[in-house]
Amino acid sequence: MSPLLIDSYKREIDYLRLSITDRCNLRCIYCMPQKGIQLLSRSEILTFEEIIKIVQILVELGIKKIRITGGEPLVRDNFLDLIGKIKKIKGIEDISLTTNGILLNKYLPRLYELDVKRINISLDSLDPVKYKEITRGGEISEVLNGISNAINIGFSSIKINIVMTVLLDKEDIWKFIKLTIDNPIDIRFIEMMPVLGLGSIECSSTSNIMDSNSAKLNNFTKNSIKEIFLIMGKMGKYYKIKKPIGYGPAVYYKIEGGKGNIGFIFNDKNCCSSCNRIRLTPGGTIKLCLFSDKEFDIKRKIRSKINTEEIKIDLMNFVKTKSENRQCSQNFNTADSIKISNFMNQIGG
Ligand code: 5AD
Ligand code: SF4
Repeated sequence: MSPLLIDSYKREIDYLRLSITDRCNLRCIYCMPQKGIQLLSRSEILTFEEIIKIVQILVELGIKKIRITGGEPLVRDNFLDLIGKIKKIKGIEDISLTTNGILLNKYLPRLYELDVKRINISLDSLDPVKYKEITRGGEISEVLNGISNAINIGFSSIKINIVMTVLLDKEDIWKFIKLTIDNPIDIRFIEMMPVLGLGSIECSSTSNIMDSNSAKLNNFTKNSIKEIFLIMGKMGKYYKIKKPIGYGPAVYYKIEGGKGNIGFIFNDKNCCSSCNRIRLTPGGTIKLCLFSDKEFDIKRKIRSKINTEEIKIDLMNFVKTKSENRQCSQNFNTADSIKISNFMNQIGG
């Protein structure tokens, strides 16, 4: 099928990040405020039937790959049934999952059966105490069990997402890199994105784990990256991987002889030129970019029974408004930088 979702910069949109819930069983410091956020009411959240209908429309327009996200997708009741139904839609080539890993172990066999074999897991420290602090209460052993069983079962891609917080120290970096040497696991160091609402109040209540001063944060990220490369150099000979891994914006390196790879995801406008993605939020809107306020209220159209062909045309036009790159200054240390205007749990990262 020829792609129909093409933006004004000739980028073909074939990848959907599908956030199936805004709920989460953790409260990561860089994602949600401690007291939580106003969650969507049951009637506001897309039903499974609505999700299927929207995905069907998007697949007919050229979406081929779907990543299930949240909040935490595994807390949505019967999410496996939903994945089973999505899998039946003709034209989908790949379904993957991003999870915090807390409930992963329990669902691994069913996910494998459903052919969801590419899993990204958020894990920002390998130290149980720091992990608890970053996630505000998470039990790391649950995540680690899930990861080691996923390796044993033979999942084809296991990636660990590491958001760089000030708690990420040399010891952690060393342990994470060692993981990639010994296991078929990729890790990705992710630059922290500015999220609206996680300002100074939040920071003081998290004992400066996440510094609200963006200039400091920016410097801190640069220093962390330097530190990571220094440690990589100490642990072996490393080289850059030329072949793309996955469909995302990460740049990967490998320690010679290692089983896995070491990736970096920067908050960088240069990634935008190859952007192939859109997002469906749990509240039923389509977002063209993490950094954009523009939303297409597809739920309203579906609920008011607008003709599917009409929705498709509107969507094709909406995609044309996708901006060339993120409307956010490259370093978010200036007053004019635009902050992501939702909490991450509402968009799915
Ligand atoms: N900055 C960068 N990454 C974030 N994520 C959540 N919040 C942020 C943020 N503020 C990441 C999580 C998860 C993915 C879905 O999004 O690490 O792996
Ligand atoms: Fe939950 Fe993920 Fe946000 Fe952490 S980053 S609070 S795991 S949605």
